[in-house]
Amino acid sequence: MSGRWDRIWVDARLARMTAVEAEPYAMLEHGAIAAKDGKIAWLGAMTDLPDAPDALAEEVVACEGACITPALIDCHTHLVFAGDRAGEYALRLEGASYEEIARAGGGILSTVNAVRAAEVNDLVEASLPRLDSLIADGVATVEIKSGYGLNLDGERAMLEAAGRLAEMRRVRVRRTFLGAHALPPEFVGRSEEYITYLCEEMLPALAADGLVDAVDAFCERIGFSPAQTERVFQAACAHGLPVKLHAEQLSNQRGASLAARYKALSADHLEFLDEEGVADMAAAGAVAVILPCAYYFLRDETPPPIEKLRAAGVDMAVATDCNPGSSPCASLLLAMNMACALFRMTPAEALAGATRNASKALGLGDETGTLEVGKACDLAVWDIAHPAELSYWMGLSPLRSRVVAGSPDTETIGAHS
Ligand code: NIG
Ligand code: FE
Repeated sequence: MSGRWDRIWVDARLARMTAVEAEPYAMLEHGAIAAKDGKIAWLGAMTDLPDAPDALAEEVVACEGACITPALIDCHTHLVFAGDRAGEYALRLEGASYEEIARAGGGILSTVNAVRAAEVNDLVEASLPRLDSLIADGVATVEIKSGYGLNLDGERAMLEAAGRLAEMRRVRVRRTFLGAHALPPEFVGRSEEYITYLCEEMLPALAADGLVDAVDAFCERIGFSPAQTERVFQAACAHGLPVKLHAEQLSNQRGASLAARYKALSADHLEFLDEEGVADMAAAGAVAVILPCAYYFLRDETPPPIEKLRAAGVDMAVATDCNPGSSPCASLLLAMNMACALFRMTPAEALAGATRNASKALGLGDETGTLEVGKACDLAVWDIAHPAELSYWMGLSPLRSRVVAGSPDTETIGAHS
């Protein structure tokens, strides 16, 4: 009866990352996991296999004790962009702040100029090495935001480039419209008009073309006010799209509470989040997306309130925030390491943050992020003795192989170390 399952991985240590177990990784030692039609069809102890592995599946993969986790999920990136901001980094090291550079017309707007000058092909070519770097860390799902076009053509080009990347690599891409990232130069002094243009022209056109899975905004002194953010959220709701928010990154704008009122999938950054914001997020079930690489690279001194989030039972995700200004980081494993070293998250929390909670932050909690029957068979097979090692190594990916929808990669793509 060969062929009940398409493939089975045997003699593995499975970190299921399901939330219900007392032990945080939900480890299953001496386990096996089987795929059928791209989904997880069975998992359990080797001793519970109903027959010999080669009688059960077309292909048997011997893991020799390797550790298998859900493939990683980077739930907050701006990885499609052109150019770089290394010069701005040098200025910041000499004392200029991120906010000062932005107010002087640099920052996000300098990337806007580079993106507006680029074709979709240029954006794809520039972004592919960053995607490959994430893939080399075992990532199989990536969220990619727009937000450097800031007009219909530019935002469309970014979202199309993100779609093109998903065709070029075996990776699930979720696209987030971040038109409310910065005020483009042609709207200076007319921010309300820009929000009207965004809500009435950009978002409807991009949503109609199926380019948008969620809507985000930058609610900040150098971004948009809470009232303007709310207008963006209302437009998103009118299109049936879930919202997310860059909230409380540089100051407390009560963005997380606003996001909670709109049943946001997540509020992200959160360095200046207060207790009220924590409580509102907990009540709304919004995921707190922790972005330690941006904190590190901006040399911030106010960490997000991890202990309060933990105590309130808010699910925490960890992401790279890959972008040219605040986080030129294309390693999710490094982000996990920093979440632990800088914020004292536990290695188990960091891994849950890059798997189960990251899937929730993208509205994909039923499809991916844990090892459970019925979910996509997206796996990362690691040469490690224990999953805590994934938050331990710096600049080294112990990935042995990556599996997307039940099929292993046939070649190893990229390597960032
Ligand atoms: O998540 N804060 C706003 N957006 C990005 C930075 C974008 C940029 O500087 O280019 C962030 O940190
Ligand atoms: Fe961001």
